[in-house]
Amino acid sequence: MPRLAVIGHPVGHSRSPAMQTAALEALGLGEEWSYGAIDLAPEELEARVRELAVSGEYAGLNVTVPHKEAALALADEASEAAREIGAANTLSFREGRILAENTDAGGLIASLPGGPAGRRALVLGAGGAARAAVWALARAGAVVFIWNRTAARAKSLADEFGAYVEIGGWPVDSPAEVDWGILVNTTTVGLGGEDPFEQLPLRRDEFAETVVVDMVYGDRPSRLLAAAEEAGALTVDGLEVLAQQGARSLRIWTGREPDLDVMRAAARRR
Ligand code: ATR
Repeated sequence: MPRLAVIGHPVGHSRSPAMQTAALEALGLGEEWSYGAIDLAPEELEARVRELAVSGEYAGLNVTVPHKEAALALADEASEAAREIGAANTLSFREGRILAENTDAGGLIASLPGGPAGRRALVLGAGGAARAAVWALARAGAVVFIWNRTAARAKSLADEFGAYVEIGGWPVDSPAEVDWGILVNTTTVGLGGEDPFEQLPLRRDEFAETVVVDMVYGDRPSRLLAAAEEAGALTVDGLEVLAQQGARSLRIWTGREPDLDVMRAAARRR
């Protein structure tokens, strides 16, 4: 009876258990496999994950805030994506060994209609979510620009991914003047209901040809996505990215192809 779980702190808000359980059931694995949630404080993370890895009960874990960097550090092996991003959202256990992967990157790329190759992408923010987005977009062939409220963090992220990120006209003082093919908001603006057009360098009328992704998600579309949709943009919300990353993780653990529509519907059900 292989077990799976998402680990985080806190973890109660996570939609992964509902989404992954629905996917396992749709694959006919609902009796055999289970997916739960484990709240782990940072100081107990390493010992508990090692325990789970050797227990023989667990096939792997999803990892969410604030453990993604520590999960990579404790792994025995890591994929190139996880190593270069510096964070893992997926651990799998093989004969007691811990393998780290980052499916956030592939999940973001898969959620972009039209794909990123050759397009100009603006990433707003320079935290952990931005790192995965910048790496993924650059790797997939986009020309990536980074804007952040604290410019020094954007600069250092751009420098770090220098091999992959083309910074044109740095600093990006007025992103609103450029036609973006892709815009990804990884900042927390909007989580507390803030007006994105006050806090971010965006204009309401600039979205027509843009794919707009907002990692912020809740029960209703974010104000950014609502405005973008009204302006004629294609929009992608954080729940679509969540479903895409989750499908990739489930594929790693089970070797089976999950039904994305089942995962999308379960992630959206409250
Ligand atoms: P995560 O790891 O989830 O990406 P984080 O590291 O806390 O989270 O990053 C949050 C991001 O939101 C940062 O880019 C932050 O900008 P600063 O680096 O300037 O702090 C951004 N952010 C948070 N509140 C913001 C606001 N009111 N306006 C603009 N950016 C904001």
